[in-house]
Amino acid sequence: MKLNAVETALMNNPVRAAFQRHYEARLLERLGGRTPGERVLEVGCGRGVGTEIILERFGAAHVTAFDLDPAMVARAGERLARYGDRVSLSVGDAEKIEAPDGAFDAVFDFGIIHHVPDWRAAVAEIRRVLRPQGRFFFEDVTRHALDRWSYRTFLEHPSEDRFGAFGFVTALEAAGLHAGDNVVTRVFGDFVFGVATKA
Ligand SMILES: C[S@@+](CC[C@H](N)C(=O)[O-])C[C@H]1O[C@@H](n2cnc3c(N)ncnc32)[C@H](O)[C@@H]1O
Repeated sequence: MKLNAVETALMNNPVRAAFQRHYEARLLERLGGRTPGERVLEVGCGRGVGTEIILERFGAAHVTAFDLDPAMVARAGERLARYGDRVSLSVGDAEKIEAPDGAFDAVFDFGIIHHVPDWRAAVAEIRRVLRPQGRFFFEDVTRHALDRWSYRTFLEHPSEDRFGAFGFVTALEAAGLHAGDNVVTRVFGDFVFGVATKA
């Protein structure tokens, strides 16, 4: 689902971008390494900071990125114009990814799966579009956070069937995405970070 006004403001600001660049990206790189020369998909790209990180820090050759919200895609388009044909942007839904099977070497999720009503369908789609041994880099928000007063009061998320860190990793494993020890939680289990490989 799309972000409400409060979360849109939280996402589209320099503090979020700095955290994504200097904390989340570093942690994901520590867990899974870089993606030099690879074809990468970013689901729920928001305003495009993640795509910049995937190109600049992770070294991807090309990033395909989409978001459910056309306004976010427009923002990302402005930010990413300088990369030319190294980036393909579109409006899309993680529950039904418009790409062939095995199209990508890696998929990145910077905090979007918890917004997806049928998040298990999104996980299955991510697995489908990864090549064998392709990697899924994820940073996401757990039920532990969504149950907090601040989240319930100011933000909007689907209310049914939200995941904890363990439930998320278990669902990845069931879908054929193996994370093993490459998983950490942060802030008392509010966030889960990891890198899973397609079996
Ligand atoms: C919390 S924001 C994160 C944005 C960006 N990845 C970042 O880290 O700054 C979640 C994003 O996911 C998008 N989104 C929500 N549901 C989606 C879906 N089913 N498919 C694709 N994008 C979705 C929202 O529009 C929003 O841009």
